[in-house]
Amino acid sequence: MSELADPRFTKILHNHQEIEGAAKRIAARIDQDYAGKTPVMVVVLKGAVMWAGDLFRNITNDIEMDFIDIASYHGGISSSNKITLRTDLTTDVKDRDVIIVEDIVDTGLSLRFLEDLLKSRGARSVQTATMLNKKAGHKIDVSAKYVGFEIDNEFVAGYGLDYQEIWRNLPFIGVVNPEIYS
Ligand code: IMP
Repeated sequence: MSELADPRFTKILHNHQEIEGAAKRIAARIDQDYAGKTPVMVVVLKGAVMWAGDLFRNITNDIEMDFIDIASYHGGISSSNKITLRTDLTTDVKDRDVIIVEDIVDTGLSLRFLEDLLKSRGARSVQTATMLNKKAGHKIDVSAKYVGFEIDNEFVAGYGLDYQEIWRNLPFIGVVNPEIYS
């Protein structure tokens, strides 16, 4: 079945090649901005895993990787306001330059939670590299320094992003057909 004929989606927003292109563009900026430094790249599980792979393959400077798992969605299509920490980092981020690697910034509440957590632990700097930014979804004033793509306020899945825990493995980002969840 071709991607476009896929009834699970109304539209394919970005394919694998386009996402890799965005990762290359951002990796080059990170190489430049962090020259001579070894940032800790904090991958936010689970959604950012595929994007992180593309990003990391294209960064040539030294980096460290760590993983954190927070919960904000509860299997549906809308965000809950409460964020909980499920799996913590193993790296001490005190005095470190940290780059949060996110799948998507929607309400911004997860990003704020992570920024506050990392700063409270003494990180020297905290920036974010997100694959997607849903500006119209922001409930608070947050911003990511590195953004792969700006998208409209629609529910998307694929390339790490899930619909009820499935479809993370799809090699593209698509707008989920509302008939599926209505
Ligand atoms: P927040 O609303 O900015 O706190 O985003 C929280 C998390 O919700 C993101 O890291 C994603 O994992 C998930 N999320 C937000 N929007 C979408 C979407 O359109 N599809 C799938 N997951 C999403």
